[in-house]
Amino acid sequence: MNDGSKNVVVLIGAGSIGQAIARRVGAGRHVVIADLSRDNAEAAARIFDDAGFTVTATTVDIASRPSIVELARLADSLGSVQGVVNAAGVSPSQAPVDAILKVDLYGTAVILEEFGKIIARGGSGIVISSQSGHRLAPLSIEENDLLATTPTEDLLKLPLLQNITSTLWAYQLSKRCNVLRVAAECVNWGRRGARLNAISPGIIITPLANDELRGPRGEGYRAMLARCPAGRAGTPDEVGDLAAFLMSGRAQFITGSDFLMDGGATASYWHGDLRYLRRGSGQGNTNV
Ligand SMILES: NC(=O)c1ccc[n+]([C@@H]2O[C@H](COP(=O)([O-])OP(=O)(O)OC[C@H]3O[C@@H](n4cnc5c(N)ncnc54)[C@H](O)[C@@H]3O)[C@@H](O)[C@H]2O)c1
Repeated sequence: MNDGSKNVVVLIGAGSIGQAIARRVGAGRHVVIADLSRDNAEAAARIFDDAGFTVTATTVDIASRPSIVELARLADSLGSVQGVVNAAGVSPSQAPVDAILKVDLYGTAVILEEFGKIIARGGSGIVISSQSGHRLAPLSIEENDLLATTPTEDLLKLPLLQNITSTLWAYQLSKRCNVLRVAAECVNWGRRGARLNAISPGIIITPLANDELRGPRGEGYRAMLARCPAGRAGTPDEVGDLAAFLMSGRAQFITGSDFLMDGGATASYWHGDLRYLRRGSGQGNTNV
């Protein structure tokens, strides 16, 4: 039971982006770092401990509702849950279609639902989506609505999520769904006096991004870095700065929003020098 004695920030996904965010919002709070990999969670926790944070490391598999429920219970038992950051995920070069949908799409939806039951008044959540969700052609109003509001346990049964053979398509749909889900769930979070937003980063140099740069779509990714308006990749710290603002008291009018943060790559992809990367559509698209 929550005695309210300590504010808690939960970081799900102990990768570089998640750590950069937690370092900015975790001071004076109890930081719970949860990851599928115990080694990743503990390695991150050691860095936080050495830097003066109060930290607990634990495991979670966001593809599993019981595992997320258990994490929410742990966080709630430690104090008032003021912050939730979902920076866990797998990329198109790291996992098969089923795993991408289960982790990136379903897992995020369950996190928003379960932590929406315990987030404290004045609290704030961040979901790390991706520029990839901005590379899809627009979905219909009905498809948007289905991704935004279908009960979580029925999400993976949606017809538009069947017979997907491309991991990239699965990832793009998952990231589009993340943003729609944030918009729909912010209404519930708002009833508790809490806010919820998404950040859609472009290429941010992390182990996950390095897998993509070396993977089958590496050439396209390298072109994106060279030819996007910023002319470089982003850093986890830059995502951390935006997240820290969104989770702060200065952003109290911002909820249900998604922030594309990609050095202009998506703008160039639709309207500029990177237009040549637009190949095919739907499952056949080889876009990056
Ligand atoms: N790095 C980029 O260029 C980039 C760009 C856009 C979006 N993103 C998104 O940012 C998020 C974080 O990516 P990152 O680059 O920091 O990657 P990362 O690989 O450094 O971190 C991801 C972490 O998620 C954990 N994880 C994977 N599956 C999990 C599961 N089922 N349950 C719990 N934890 C799990 C991994 O163990 C890892 O520690 C991902 O959702 C990714 O899609 C990254």
